[in-house]
Amino acid sequence: MTRKWLFVSVLLLTVLLVLLEHREKSKKANETPKAATLSTKEILWVAPDSGTIPNDESGDLIRYGKKLISHTSLYIGPRGSVNKNANGMNCQNCHLDAGTKAWAGNFGAVAALYPRFSDRRGSRETINQRITDCFERSMNGEAPDSTSREMKAMNAYISWLGKDVTKGKKPAGAGLEILSFIERPADPQRGKILYQQKCQSCHGLNGEGQPDSIAEYRYPPLWGDHSYNTAAGLYRLSKFAGFVKDNMPFGSNYSNEQLNDDQAWDLAAFVNSQPRPVKKFKQDWPNILLKPVDLEDGPYPDSFPSVQHKYGPFAPIAKAKKNPAVK
Ligand code: HEC
Ligand code: HEC
Repeated sequence: MTRKWLFVSVLLLTVLLVLLEHREKSKKANETPKAATLSTKEILWVAPDSGTIPNDESGDLIRYGKKLISHTSLYIGPRGSVNKNANGMNCQNCHLDAGTKAWAGNFGAVAALYPRFSDRRGSRETINQRITDCFERSMNGEAPDSTSREMKAMNAYISWLGKDVTKGKKPAGAGLEILSFIERPADPQRGKILYQQKCQSCHGLNGEGQPDSIAEYRYPPLWGDHSYNTAAGLYRLSKFAGFVKDNMPFGSNYSNEQLNDDQAWDLAAFVNSQPRPVKKFKQDWPNILLKPVDLEDGPYPDSFPSVQHKYGPFAPIAKAKKNPAVK
């Protein structure tokens, strides 16, 4: 009799444990990445109201900086009023809404983090030097001198944007989203079909974009002579995919994405396999151990081929990096 009861209670207890575990598992399965995004939504960085820029000389400099970032080509570009040393793009073409939009290359973290160590430069980098990087790469041109009113103004605006952020802290939603790697190589052929369906209507058959007024683009170029060069951030597939997933086609945003990860990586592969200005800075990435996995040009600290460093799959490279003994 007691044996039988013992058997029944052990059985009941087992059933109970199995049920509890199942409940726990299905709870976890429901925690989708979207839910995680939503919970961070309230604390995403928000830029200060531009109406609060002071009405004095310091404010004038900040306001001029904002204009330079939003409408760069009116001042610095092939038809610019200050000088001609840039490709005709605006900083805002990539740093959306004058560098204030969440996950759209905003400047929320800059005042808090700079000067900071740059893996690419191999030393500490100031805000002016970081702006110069974008002039030489994304804008395929030359930066104004650090003593110029233009450089002072852009620095003043970017610093004003981040004035309320705690020093040393990167606020949520700053910069670009880092997507997970996909398991296969990113595919330019699939990207081409997506480009025709979702991007070509604005960015053009040959990625040339569409000029607006005399000096600005309505739709900026994605490749060709007037686009960012091969030393630019967007030439890395991870940066392009992160930007595009959260922001394109134009009008989408991180909480209303129109592309999935695969599509974003394939579009990056297609656009970055098209011709564009070639520029190489030999002094970049002096410590090859700090090089990101998605840089086409060697030397690398591993033996993966250049084509895999460009298109992936990147996970095996990242894994080898963590454990130099592997491969
Ligand atoms: C073709 C696209 C493009 C254009 C145009 C562009 N940038 Fe950038 N910029 C980037 C990318 C990509 C990054 C790296 C973002 C990241 O890694 O999160 C970046 C980074 C920066 C950063 C550092 C941000 C940080 O959080 O560390 C600054 C400052 C900056 N850009 C300023 C400018 C200025 C000023 C201009 C115009 C003169 C400009 N950029 C034009 C693409 C661009
Ligand atoms: C409805 C028009 C439209 C469509 C469709 C569109 N874009 Fe854009 N795109 C824009 C505009 C406008 C900007 C510049 C935003 C600004 O200056 O505020 C831009 C900027 C960009 C940039 C950064 C600037 C540059 O030229 O390098 C990239 C990269 C980009 N788009 C990629 C894409 C991709 C990939 C697709 C397809 C998935 C796409 N866009 C679809 C309008 C569009």
